[in-house]
Amino acid sequence: MSATTSQLQVDGKTVDMAIKTGSIGPSVIDIGKLYAQTGMFTYDPGFTSTASCESQITYIDGDEGVLLYRGYPIEQLAEHGDFLETCFLLLEGELPTAAQKADFDYRVTRHTMVHEQMARFFQGFRRDAHPMAVMVGSIGAMSAFYHDSTDISDPHQRMVASMRMIAKMPTLAAMAYKYTVGQPFVYPLNSLDYSSNFLRMCFAVPAEEYKVNPVLSRALDRIFILHADHEQNASTSTVRLAGSSGANPFACIAAGTACLWGPAHGGANEAALKMLEEIGSVENIPKFIAKAKDKNDPFRLMGFGHRVYKNYDPRAKIMQKTTHEVLNELGIKDDPLLDVAIELERIALSDSYFIEKKLYPNIDFYSGITLKAMGFPTSMFTALFALARTVGWIAQWKEMIEDPSQRIGRPRQLYTGSPPREYAPIGRR
Ligand code: SDX
Repeated sequence: MSATTSQLQVDGKTVDMAIKTGSIGPSVIDIGKLYAQTGMFTYDPGFTSTASCESQITYIDGDEGVLLYRGYPIEQLAEHGDFLETCFLLLEGELPTAAQKADFDYRVTRHTMVHEQMARFFQGFRRDAHPMAVMVGSIGAMSAFYHDSTDISDPHQRMVASMRMIAKMPTLAAMAYKYTVGQPFVYPLNSLDYSSNFLRMCFAVPAEEYKVNPVLSRALDRIFILHADHEQNASTSTVRLAGSSGANPFACIAAGTACLWGPAHGGANEAALKMLEEIGSVENIPKFIAKAKDKNDPFRLMGFGHRVYKNYDPRAKIMQKTTHEVLNELGIKDDPLLDVAIELERIALSDSYFIEKKLYPNIDFYSGITLKAMGFPTSMFTALFALARTVGWIAQWKEMIEDPSQRIGRPRQLYTGSPPREYAPIGRR
């Protein structure tokens, strides 16, 4: 990594700061000593210009619409690979050999059951609880069951916790869904592949045989690949910050799941579908476009815009293709929501407001239509995002824990509150 320096003039002082250059993408200015040398902090509330860490896992070029997992383009992984192969790649840094893939699949498959007592944990929730509330609670509760994989200083325990998280998230997500629809939990079936197993745990009922549709299973597996990791997004940064304090991996993933729930982040797929349903028909689109452009109206086109992508989100293109595959397979010819989505996208991409602000459809724009067609309720969309993103959270957490220079994350602030003042007794206020 070549390094040069930059200089900052402040208060008549010249401060030299190293510039670090990565393998591709923007270089960084190392400001680690800025406070010690100037008594000042940098100020970047939304972290729009701040690199929080060095990482070798995922690379995004927002202007070019590029997404690489360990250097491999997302388009190639989604086309040729499967989700567990992507999990191995994100965790280990290389695509697996045939023997490594077979071993990894075997190990994940044999961690898919959850402790039987966790089922009782679900009984504490109301049936109408949002599945993400159940996921945050049950993932955090894993810390109470798997004590033999919470010591983060032990590489073996870190590996076991990683496998458990990847393997058990589908089981917990399916249980969260079954609980809300009042159906019995369905145990994992190890003869099925990862995504087929998840579909069966969600949609099988004891009263009859369940046959997995291979087109839907393949589509879901691809959707998981698209959602697996995404550099230092809000939920991944949450996992890293929680992990920097030494919290156990289950607690860190529960924190990331909570952050992902927000409608500006992983909750956007649920919000985008609700928006399409609220628009209802192509004729209503202009009214909503006007609302999105109105500075005084908090309404935003959910599924549009991105902090990093100022071009088309490459995942959205693959998602759009998958949507058509699933709708064709299910014989859904004229889905009114899809008609609204396609027309909304066409109008938005030709409207100067969206062009100037570089607002393109993101991964959440099409995923909701696909998942709804597959039979998932809107409330389950973000739980599926969390299921897929778990491997990314775990890979980033592992990279941070194994970084010898890792320290607890502790940002500072610009204080604009009251200067020191004397306490006044209540009678004199
Ligand atoms: C995900 O970070 C990741 O990588 C996230 C993710 C991942 O894989 O982890 O990619 C997953 O979260 C995708 C994003 C899903 N969110 C949504 O679809 C919600 C709708 N989008 C917006 O809320 C917004 O675009 C964000 C949150 C995604 C990005 O917000 P930014 O970067 O802080 O941008 P901003 O809010 O400052 O907006 C810039 C301008 C503003 O106008 P001005 O104040 O400059 O006049 O664009 C406008 C905004 O009003 N704008 C929108 C808009 N998004 C931004 N206007 C209308 N509709 C929108 N969707």
